[in-house]
Amino acid sequence: MKIRMTINGAAQEADVWAGESLLNALRDGFGLPGSKNACEQGECGSCSVLLDGDLVCACLVLAAQADGHEVTTVEGLADGDELHRVQRAFVDAGAVQCGFCTPGLVVATVDLLDRVPRPTEDEIREALSGNLCRCTGYAKIFDAVRLAAT
Ligand code: FES
Ligand code: FES
Repeated sequence: MKIRMTINGAAQEADVWAGESLLNALRDGFGLPGSKNACEQGECGSCSVLLDGDLVCACLVLAAQADGHEVTTVEGLADGDELHRVQRAFVDAGAVQCGFCTPGLVVATVDLLDRVPRPTEDEIREALSGNLCRCTGYAKIFDAVRLAAT
């Protein structure tokens, strides 16, 4: 089936099969591998994207459900060569090790700061509780969120 959606501000269309996830379609159909595929069960947050402005796990959304909607992926955050302030904060805080979790954490942080520009410690932990990182121990990730919020 053919689906059409606006991805990172541009109208796109692709052929998908009826049971295909939005994550798979983004990565394979639309050529956007920034959203990572780890658990495919909604457990790790590495596939986080914004669907009509709401944070979702792209592995839990059917591509067909996104037909006619707006999707923002990590690829859509930077302005040309200029990193989004959240991306810059992750770099500056040293919050990236292997980097596999980073796209999802960045998208989740963008969502948090759009809703809560000056989050408390508890709000940061709650907002990122669905994003797993096996490398950093989270301290530098939380530093990055605080830095992006300043
Ligand atoms: S791949 Fe979607 S939550 Fe893990
Ligand atoms: S930096 Fe490696 S999983 Fe988070």
